[in-house]
Amino acid sequence: MFRFSRRAAAAVSIVAISAAAAGGVGAATRSSDEAALAPARQPADRAIEKRVNKLLKKMTLEEKLNQLTLLSDGQMKENPAEARKPVGAVFSEVDPAKIRAYQQDAVENSRLGIPILFAYDTIHGFRTIFPIPLGAASSFDPAVATDDHFFGARESAAVGLKQIYSPMVDVSHEPRWGRISEAGGEDPYLNSVFAAARVKAAQGGDYSARDKVVTSVKHYAAYGQPEGGRDYGTTDMSEQRLRNLYLPPFKAAIDAGSDTVMCSFNAINGVPGCAHRRLETDVLKREWGFDGFVESDYTAVAELRSCPPRIPDEGSCGHGVAGDGPEAAARALRAGTDSEMVSTFFRDYGEELVAEGRVSMRRIDDAVRRILRVKFRAGLFENPYSQFTPEQAKAEMLKPDAVAAARKAAGRSMVLLKNDGAPATLPLDPGKKTAVIGPLGNSERDMVGPWWGRGDDNSPADIVTPFEGIAAQSAGATFTEGCKVSRTEPPHDDAEGCGAEANFADAVAAAEAADQVVLALGESREMSGEAAVRSVLDLPGRQEELIAAIKATGKPFVVVLFNGRPLALENIVDTAPAILEAWFPGVQAGNAVADVVFGQVNPGGKLPASFPRRVGQVPIYYNHEPTGRPCDVNSKYNSRYRDLPYCGPLYEFGFGLSYTTFEVTNLALSSQSVARSGRVTASVDVANTGSRAGDEVVQLYINDPVAKISQPVRRLRGFQRVTLAPGEKRTLTFTLDRSDWGFYDNKGRFVVEPGRIDVYAGNSSRASLRQSFRVRR
Ligand code: BGC
Repeated sequence: MFRFSRRAAAAVSIVAISAAAAGGVGAATRSSDEAALAPARQPADRAIEKRVNKLLKKMTLEEKLNQLTLLSDGQMKENPAEARKPVGAVFSEVDPAKIRAYQQDAVENSRLGIPILFAYDTIHGFRTIFPIPLGAASSFDPAVATDDHFFGARESAAVGLKQIYSPMVDVSHEPRWGRISEAGGEDPYLNSVFAAARVKAAQGGDYSARDKVVTSVKHYAAYGQPEGGRDYGTTDMSEQRLRNLYLPPFKAAIDAGSDTVMCSFNAINGVPGCAHRRLETDVLKREWGFDGFVESDYTAVAELRSCPPRIPDEGSCGHGVAGDGPEAAARALRAGTDSEMVSTFFRDYGEELVAEGRVSMRRIDDAVRRILRVKFRAGLFENPYSQFTPEQAKAEMLKPDAVAAARKAAGRSMVLLKNDGAPATLPLDPGKKTAVIGPLGNSERDMVGPWWGRGDDNSPADIVTPFEGIAAQSAGATFTEGCKVSRTEPPHDDAEGCGAEANFADAVAAAEAADQVVLALGESREMSGEAAVRSVLDLPGRQEELIAAIKATGKPFVVVLFNGRPLALENIVDTAPAILEAWFPGVQAGNAVADVVFGQVNPGGKLPASFPRRVGQVPIYYNHEPTGRPCDVNSKYNSRYRDLPYCGPLYEFGFGLSYTTFEVTNLALSSQSVARSGRVTASVDVANTGSRAGDEVVQLYINDPVAKISQPVRRLRGFQRVTLAPGEKRTLTFTLDRSDWGFYDNKGRFVVEPGRIDVYAGNSSRASLRQSFRVRR
């Protein structure tokens, strides 16, 4: 059971998460280390509502429409006078002096002095960049998410920002999609836990605090599931899938208090996210009681039109659900979009739409009211400026506590995929001579991932490369690039990277001169993130050949992977004796890699998304529905690939090894029969059976074998990451209730059916311990 009670003034309960993990779900002024729980969203404050209404009464329609306008830093630079209109919000301006100057203009030189809301995509840190969110999810430790948003909020607020376009919670079963890097992978439960932790850490109990910001959960909705993984592409799905798989993390973020939401670019069943009345108004605002505001994604309102637009200089276009700008504005506003990013149709056509009765004044007022409400809650009228001068703001960046948390987070996010050999290849001995080889081995920029915030402002000073980190722990370490990884903008061919210019002779010589090799391979940061879709999931370029060349030297080696998506590792899995998935680990990448490869940190991360063997299997994910003919490689008429001699992914969701070994045993349930609204407690033992201290993530899954709608074969409903000394054994408990065994049907109803529920426990989605209980009529 996972629950953040909406509007509850005090504690939240996360019954299925460990005490340590729950402690990570931050507090107003605390990082995860100071475990405490923050109150849920701020209650609708009558005093604020009065102030909103009073201000609204004074506003002209023009002033209201300006509040619905959200401009980029570039647009502001072109026309700084927008500040004194003033526009409602500005994003991507991060220079504290400019933010202050715009704000001063708004507050002092506009008729009503309404402050501007300054926003930024602080998705895994502002200046102190943490692991990409897909990496953070691998930690299965909400404290990692708490920390990245706690410090991200602190640094953002220091320069004068008051809103962050995060958390990104798009559940995705599409590794081809480059933005799978920005959220928590393929599971709604894991994404929900992380979403709530991030909202609470960034907002605290009251986001008017000077080191807090309001979060914008995005991209609403189902943006993670575009057809073929092609970014911005259409999404077609049933109501039950939408509700069971893709909406839960949004609901969790709203329940945790997120006061803003960003609607998505993609169309869902033919209706674009920012024109989706049912999702924006009926579900979000009415069903979930959301009283903050919805902003569009970048030009998403303009993109509602068909191409070419009737008025050619109106810019972006595409979905074909509006004939022109006014119609696009009307559709978006009527659907429930409150604020328009970059395109300015609300402002440009608002007066005519109201005059013609195509959009009601009531709806305009509702949108303005929502925006003002958030500004009042943010304390912007009292404190429009950062508490720091621009000079002081600099000193708030990369502070030792943030940097230490980033290093810890990166170590906790790494996943050990393979560790063969007797003795095992990893950990390496720092006393031996280490050669770091590979295109990612001494790259600063790739370490901070596809969306790096301000992480490389002073690059390379802030970012520790794998080579630098390893050299700091292993004297005499060397670095040889071997080849370069492709980073050109399209049109390009990923195979170019590590291609013609490859210098394997140098790499081989470096390996031969050393005792052991760390091969730093993967993707350039340009290969994932927005609009960075790949049709092949193998290691790009000739990196597989580089592995073979190093193997031929006979030196012990580990492949450390830096990448923003699940890769298809079929071609390297037999060649490499050890594989460590490091993702893009952030500014402390190198130190964290060294901590793990030399054994200071025992890896305990688990995959938040399945790794296919090859791209043709995609989408392949653990929480799929069953079929009447499950995959069987020994016969024909079943759900298999004719040309693959296996079923399933290479590495499943929840998989990850350790330098020690664990046993998960004795799954027991508190009861074999329960009322529909009752509870069942599952207990399970976990023991460290090896000779090193280490972390295990015990996972609890359920399956409803007979339901009116075919249920996923497994659904994660609880996890706990625990640290155990050698020989130590612990009993963990998980509580399940109707929120776990119920599901949404195709009419959008949450149903709880009587019948058997199977419970599985273990250390991956292939967990084999099983017990059952019955839900009574
Ligand atoms: C992205 C959003 C982001 C926005 C502003 C868009 O292209 O889809 O995630 O918040 O730009 O930077």
